[in-house]
Amino acid sequence: VAPLKVGIAGLGTVGAEVVRLIETQARVLAGRSGRGIRVVAVTARSKAKKRGIDLRSVEWAKDPLALATHPGIDCFVELMGGAGDPALSAVEAALTAGKSVVTANKALLAKHGIKLAKAAEKHGGALNFEAAVGAAIPVIKTLREGLAGTGINRVYGILNGTCNYILTRMEQEGLSFAECLKDAQRLGYAEANPSFDVDGHDTAQKLAILASLAFGTKVAQRAVYVEGISSIAPEDLRAAADLGYRVKLLGVAVRTAKGIEQRVHPTMVPKSSSIAQVMGVTNAVTIDGEGIPPITLVGPGAGGAATASAVVADIADVARGIRANPFGRPVAQLRDTSKAPMERH
Ligand code: HSE
Repeated sequence: VAPLKVGIAGLGTVGAEVVRLIETQARVLAGRSGRGIRVVAVTARSKAKKRGIDLRSVEWAKDPLALATHPGIDCFVELMGGAGDPALSAVEAALTAGKSVVTANKALLAKHGIKLAKAAEKHGGALNFEAAVGAAIPVIKTLREGLAGTGINRVYGILNGTCNYILTRMEQEGLSFAECLKDAQRLGYAEANPSFDVDGHDTAQKLAILASLAFGTKVAQRAVYVEGISSIAPEDLRAAADLGYRVKLLGVAVRTAKGIEQRVHPTMVPKSSSIAQVMGVTNAVTIDGEGIPPITLVGPGAGGAATASAVVADIADVARGIRANPFGRPVAQLRDTSKAPMERH
């Protein structure tokens, strides 16, 4: 069988690690996929930057759009980020050309996921995005495949590594918000614009994706009520601790009598609860399914290696020829529920 030919747009920490994993894990991946995986072309802002990977036999495409429509690739891997162009046009073009797409871009999916899923459906390519939520934690697969036969009542958790890292260090070391954020940036956890992390938008994007998979709703970030952590000070965390609580930024999507409620806000959780034990850059997602006790997935939620791990797993699925409906159901079956954020109660 011919190897799967991959094109990668974006060679930051995640992209470079994806190239490295495809090389070092080649035998394992070929064993799992039944065929080889080869990176044939790439594109990135800087060609000269030192990345510690061997790109000598790889073609440099002139821009993301040229790579997305390159006749020599079967699978376009989008790791540039951002809800708009160039990511949007490139992903759309790749899907329209019948190629499969793997992306870690939660912002793009939360804004244009339905349009892109439609294009994937129409032209037959896969649209895989395990890395968009919870990095290495296989939460998309769990909702889409593992729990395909189970009705879901609630999905909630810690979905932003940067915020949990900041809250953990503020509580444990009494450091200021600004100091902790700087460290999160230095460690490569934060978004290019860290206000997406601390204002809760990154969590909202991820929650909208999980809610779509859990409840069959059209993914829409505007349906999520959002409140971030930027006004929290070490004293607030100390006051919560005195009462036996920790503060966590939670994303919660729940089925109610009035519809699907989706919200993101700092929450006081009892210190003895399992969610309160989740510290640092770790993410945790709990899924309440009908007739079964809750399932909780815990693991690294940000960082180059953790994100690349999920990207490579998605590429392996494309190589194996597995093609799921991106949001778990055909687009025509997804319900347009809430148009505006629901009030918190
Ligand atoms: N900035 C994100 C976070 C990266 O801190 O969780 C992973 O999506």
